[in-house]
Amino acid sequence: MTKKKLFSEEPVEIGPESGYDNYIMAIESSCDETACAIVKNGREVIANVVASQIKTHAQFGGVIPEIAAREHMDSINIIVEEAFKQAKENAGITPKDITAFAGTVGPGLVGCLLVGLNAAKTLALVYDKPFIGVNHLNAHLCGNYLDTDLKPPFIALLISGGHTQIIDVRSYSEQNIVGETIDDAVGEAYDKVARLIGLPYPGGPKLDKMAQEGNPKAFELPEAKVDDYDFSFSGLKTAVLRLVKSFDGKELPVQDICASFQECVSSTLVKKVKKALQQSGYKQVVIAGGVAANSEIRKKMFNLSNEGYQVFAPPMKYCTDNAAMVASCAYFNTNTFDDINVEVFSRVK
Ligand code: KG4
Ligand code: ZN
Repeated sequence: MTKKKLFSEEPVEIGPESGYDNYIMAIESSCDETACAIVKNGREVIANVVASQIKTHAQFGGVIPEIAAREHMDSINIIVEEAFKQAKENAGITPKDITAFAGTVGPGLVGCLLVGLNAAKTLALVYDKPFIGVNHLNAHLCGNYLDTDLKPPFIALLISGGHTQIIDVRSYSEQNIVGETIDDAVGEAYDKVARLIGLPYPGGPKLDKMAQEGNPKAFELPEAKVDDYDFSFSGLKTAVLRLVKSFDGKELPVQDICASFQECVSSTLVKKVKKALQQSGYKQVVIAGGVAANSEIRKKMFNLSNEGYQVFAPPMKYCTDNAAMVASCAYFNTNTFDDINVEVFSRVK
């Protein structure tokens, strides 16, 4: 992919075909993590800094967009500086060695995205380097290229707070969504069910932890009847609500409810992924997105290796929001956004 420097017409080759080492600095600020990373050739992380706002939002039971944006403002300069410091210490890389600067353009909270994106654009202007706008969902997929030798084609299960998709990744730049949720995203379902049973924010990881101590067969919860590769989680959420009400104020068997819910979600996800694998003929499968941190989903996905599939899942630090995945995406994905005037967007267009 050829990109232009911002102040000159001089073209710069970026990506696997460029024939030289690329160092991409990326910034991510789409939700409640301010992150900056520098990645060599899309795979080798030489700096990775994440400032989490979880503690701030916990007192409100969820992310408050205005407060999140202000926290990004407070953190952004500090984390960029820290990333440059790490790159210098780890690889002797200085700002002038950076090949291009990248930033997440969406989907996400607009006020939050603006902070990170403007910082990335400013860095590109100051150092006269190309700028690359990155889609947050594609970035989650690319988290799987970090520290691995994964190459397309593969089937990806992208599961986050806002999305649930099965994707046919044919090449680094060619992806086809084969199925997705028709209502709630899986992370959203986790967070809503967690709230229903009285678990504090962030609900998903807490529910996962409780589930590990419960009986997955304690309650039979319904699996939605939807098209081949699609998902629906709102009926399941209602079923949990009904179950909770049936206890009529008596003490809830929280662990068993969590384990039964987790069993229902994880088996549905993996069943459909398996179907997509059989249909595609691919032998590789990856999981991505914040919910890829879930213990039972990981376990069931890794069990696919007993059936001859090669399974990839990013380590926890690259599952939840981070900027290393954004840098990898800027390197591998031919993005359409690379103009300094590119704007942020909140939802998938
Ligand atoms: O990808 P991500 O960090 O942010 C979005 O782009 O949405 O994903 C956040 C979501 C939240 O819904 C959170 O509850 C969920 O991922 N999550 C989990 C676990 N860790 C994070 N859900 C279930 N089990 C987990 N261990
Ligand atoms: Zn995310």
